[in-house]
Amino acid sequence: MTVREIVTVGHPVLRERARDVTIDELATPDVQRLIDDLVDTMRAANGAGIAANQIGVPLRITTIEVNDNPRYPYKPRIPLTVVVNPVIEPLDDELVEINEGCLSVPNLRGNVMRHVNVRVRYLDRDGAEHDEIRRGLTAGTFQHECDHLDGMLFLDRVTDPTTFTTWEQFERFHRAAFVERISEFVRRVGS
Ligand code: NI
Repeated sequence: MTVREIVTVGHPVLRERARDVTIDELATPDVQRLIDDLVDTMRAANGAGIAANQIGVPLRITTIEVNDNPRYPYKPRIPLTVVVNPVIEPLDDELVEINEGCLSVPNLRGNVMRHVNVRVRYLDRDGAEHDEIRRGLTAGTFQHECDHLDGMLFLDRVTDPTTFTTWEQFERFHRAAFVERISEFVRRVGS
């Protein structure tokens, strides 16, 4: 088990487009160890997801897991999912405004618009192909992690800078209204 250092906004690796992993590379001990480290680092930091470039490795690999997450207690559960070479596409024009944070952007949150219904195609850590529909906050988490692999941060998608808050001020002034709105959304969408 290795918890790696998470690089923060300003580090150029977060702004690079990460490259695809070949099927042969995916099977190597180095890449399998990288995936283990991503999982360990994500869990140690209570992240809902982490992308490989967040630990300094510009490969298109991200891990996602939500399980009673103290950073985002309103998020529906997502079992551990290893996502390699993802291709994500919106299924329609429905959007939802989600308050997001990021392990690479310490102590800041802001509101971004995310697609509610997306199709995600990817490989798992064994190289098996997946083609899935993801909805709601879970779709938002997939979009956030796929953005990382394209060198984007949630900061780039915040259209109203007045929604930026520290985690402390979010708790104090904004959390209740957001959780009420988003819980209603989660009930409607189911994820
Ligand atoms: Ni992030």
